Amino acid sequence: MKSDNGTGGTGREAEAAGAFPDDWDVRRYRDHAAFVPALGAPVVTLLAPRPGERILDLGCGDGTLTESLIAAGAEVVGIDASADMVAAARARGIDARTADAAALSFTAEFDAVFSNAALHWMTAADAVLAGVRRALRPGGRFVGEFGGAGNVAAIVTALTAVLAGRGVDFASISPWYFPTVDAYHGRLEAHGFGVDTIESIPRPTPLPGAMEDWLETLAAPAFRVLSERERAAARDKAVALLRPALCDERGRWTADYVRLRFAARLTTPPAGTENR
Ligand code: BEZ
Repeated sequence: MKSDNGTGGTGREAEAAGAFPDDWDVRRYRDHAAFVPALGAPVVTLLAPRPGERILDLGCGDGTLTESLIAAGAEVVGIDASADMVAAARARGIDARTADAAALSFTAEFDAVFSNAALHWMTAADAVLAGVRRALRPGGRFVGEFGGAGNVAAIVTALTAVLAGRGVDFASISPWYFPTVDAYHGRLEAHGFGVDTIESIPRPTPLPGAMEDWLETLAAPAFRVLSERERAAARDKAVALLRPALCDERGRWTADYVRLRFAARLTTPPAGTENR
């Protein structure tokens, strides 16, 4: 990365590195990314929520999927870094709270922690896992799905090329964490979990609109490192690079998603919480 090109220099790193976006535009998300919770049904099935269970939904967004846990009879607390998303979830009657998933304050109070399409925004993975471990009762489940290694690889490659042309190293500012199965399996075990299942699932995902919309909705932090003036040109260049790989002859876009889906169980609670 260059130190300064008149658009922020090292400030770019500070702004984007590891930054879970907390300024989601709820309407844009519903227009261009409603498929994210809509495709979350398999991970809800894997969780198998039961009536009366107390469940934490980590990265609940606007609460679309949280509602399905509540419909199963669970008592759910949702947390999200975005105050706007939390407001949208609360408007559905959900107990949603604005919180940093890397600094959870719950102790041994949940039967399960659930997460769909959020863990890839949480680059402080060890801090998140430490908080999940503390939040669960002994034997509690941690079930989730998020982007795994190879997720949106073509998009990452295009962003890397476009930002490199503007002196920015995308790898050093990427807001995304896409681990391999082995890496996440190891991390879960290191944090006291036994892993029941973990798999990588290639899931090419048709987009409801254009790649421009996907980039503006889900890759905004990557462009935020550029000046307003640079952004549109950089986005258009990324779209041009991606068109041959991800757009068909009728103009329909498909994103190259790879999901990492897992179910784990807390086998070694943190010291001091074993008998709660
Ligand atoms: C995903 O849900 O896989 C995803 C979200 C944002 C950026 C990249 C991937």
